[in-house]
Amino acid sequence: MSIESIQTLARAEMAAVDVLIRAELRSDVLLINQISEHIIAAGGKRLRPMLTVVAARAAGYTGQDHTALAAIIEFIHTATLLHDDVVDESDLRRGRKTANALWGNAPSVLVGDFLYSRAFQLMVGLDSMAIQKRLANTTNRIAEGEVLQLLHVHNPDTDEAAYLNVIERKTAELFSAATGLAVHLAGADASTCAAMDAYGLHLGMAFQIADDVLDYVGDADALGKNLGDDLAEGKATLPLIHALGLAEDDVRARLRLIIATGDATAMPEVLSAITRSESLRYCTDKARFHAESAKAALQVLPDSPWKQALADLANYSVARNH
Ligand code: IPE
Ligand code: IPE
Ligand code: MG
Ligand code: MG
Repeated sequence: MSIESIQTLARAEMAAVDVLIRAELRSDVLLINQISEHIIAAGGKRLRPMLTVVAARAAGYTGQDHTALAAIIEFIHTATLLHDDVVDESDLRRGRKTANALWGNAPSVLVGDFLYSRAFQLMVGLDSMAIQKRLANTTNRIAEGEVLQLLHVHNPDTDEAAYLNVIERKTAELFSAATGLAVHLAGADASTCAAMDAYGLHLGMAFQIADDVLDYVGDADALGKNLGDDLAEGKATLPLIHALGLAEDDVRARLRLIIATGDATAMPEVLSAITRSESLRYCTDKARFHAESAKAALQVLPDSPWKQALADLANYSVARNH
């Protein structure tokens, strides 16, 4: 199923999610409306809420609470993007100038807090202690992941295990909550919930590894983000970590210095080291392995177009160009 066919399948649910997101964005504080509208109206792929509604339907859910759950997940995600672009000093997001570039850091952080807290208000409305507990833990783990990543910035000794630990927390855990809670809502048994936790976690790992590859070799127009942000920041992601491990001594010394200083002008040098070590193939294989593990977890669900869409969204997370 192509991404377009999946969008068609989930059109009615995603339209309902959009209506709720728009309604819940409102505040009588003008700046909040301006900034949240700026980032939300730019769209984004809406992959996490789509996973929530599709997973709920795949597990036979016939109610409507998955709409609120999906909006909550997207609000949490968008809050992390507002904060992340401040920390990463990024200029471009969803094809637009970032909120921090337009309004500055303080408003971006504070509106990120608004979106986080609005997500928690919506969550309370679902009146489920299990959902509140899971999302409280998830947002806490995202924060830990971002802080852990900050501690590794400019550190040339960051290894693959440290990298995987960071991306599991900052990215994969929200995907896991998006799909695990969706089937929980459907009343699925514990083993189905665990399988769908694993599906989301693996998909999220694949998604972030692919994102880190795209930061080197993607197309900025398609991505709606600038390339090279990770290198400029001195953030050693998997392509660079892998290349560093295989490089000759002199190249390794250069790469270590580039990470330590966050030297964006060294991009051609880094790309050539990454090419020589076939690091992008290594990363893509790793992302594919996670996508396959995600798909394997789907065997707990009965066959349906929704289940097929989940399998294809796992493939899309690796094969995407934006
Ligand atoms: C960006 O997520 C942050 C990462 C986890 C890499 P998305 O690529 O899903 O961002 P949008 O929502 O589509 O803009
Ligand atoms: C994703 O990491 C950030 C969060 C999930 C909070 P990145 O820093 O790689 O995301 P982009 O590339 O800015 O979207
Ligand atoms: Mg970033
Ligand atoms: Mg990135």
